[in-house]
Amino acid sequence: MVKSFLKEIDFTKKDLLNLLALSAKFKQLKKDKVAHKYLEGKNIALIFEKTSTRTRSAFTVAGQDLGMNVTYLGAGEIQLGKKESIVDTAKVLGSMFDGIEYRGFKQEDVEILSKYSGVPVWNGLTDTWHPTQMIADFLTLTEVFGSLDDLSIAYIGDGRNNMANSLLVTSAILGVNCTIIAPKSLQPQKDIVDLAHQHNTGASLTITDDIAGVKGVNMIYTDVWVSMGEGVDFKERIDLLLPYQINQNLISLTGNPDVIVMHCLPAFHDLNTEIGKDIYEKYGYSELEITDEVFQKYSSIIFQEAENRMHSIKAIMYNSFQEE
Ligand code: CP
Repeated sequence: MVKSFLKEIDFTKKDLLNLLALSAKFKQLKKDKVAHKYLEGKNIALIFEKTSTRTRSAFTVAGQDLGMNVTYLGAGEIQLGKKESIVDTAKVLGSMFDGIEYRGFKQEDVEILSKYSGVPVWNGLTDTWHPTQMIADFLTLTEVFGSLDDLSIAYIGDGRNNMANSLLVTSAILGVNCTIIAPKSLQPQKDIVDLAHQHNTGASLTITDDIAGVKGVNMIYTDVWVSMGEGVDFKERIDLLLPYQINQNLISLTGNPDVIVMHCLPAFHDLNTEIGKDIYEKYGYSELEITDEVFQKYSSIIFQEAENRMHSIKAIMYNSFQEE
């Protein structure tokens, strides 16, 4: 059976815990400079229909560390979806490559790619889920807190995006208490909440528009306020989400001096980006989903989380090629 990694709900708590343990092992091998070219001779393709720094770099380095040949197929460089259907592309790529990473828009597309390629397919982000990010995030939580037992996390901001969806269902599967805090119009869709409840192994799951929901949590998470490819009025979105910014006041509301902050990145916390400057010139905001003060305070954890993308993606790919 082909072992793809398409969405979190395809996996049990035991599966995800195994991936976290395997990620930690690969991280240690890398730190000890022990070669681990366990997949030498395999060829993988990385399809990116959206831009990426972390996911692309993580798949590239992880693949090379495992001894694989890695080919990048960027947006507009292949026929996919324009001159050729996803089904036909899947059959062609599956006949040449041993595995395929796909970052795109519709979840359905990555599922089709997996069904028709006959090789493992790894979801590098769709509009619905960001599953490889989850292994890195829960690895980071395990490293910081020693275990996932009795942890409570809160995601605050746009509660309908792929990150909120993935955090909600992954927390449910792993039994980590999770609160999604978002304005009513940006709360998770009912089918996502239903999935989280169906796969829940004992977590408390809460959806609220009240920022007081951060009280007592161990970790607060946020993501950008407008996701890739979303055609929305930026000013309207900023006005709606400004009360949900991670700032010092929100940190104080947790009442927990040991709370940490995580962010999947990229983040709009200063004016050192083109988009950040553009928003500042148009609307006067120099920081969006997280203030620079908070970002800098928790930056060592946020960049530890980014590094963990590579170790966890290595574990995910390696696991796909192991017999049951
Ligand atoms: N977190 C994340 O997916 O980063 P990239 O968009 O840079 O891959």
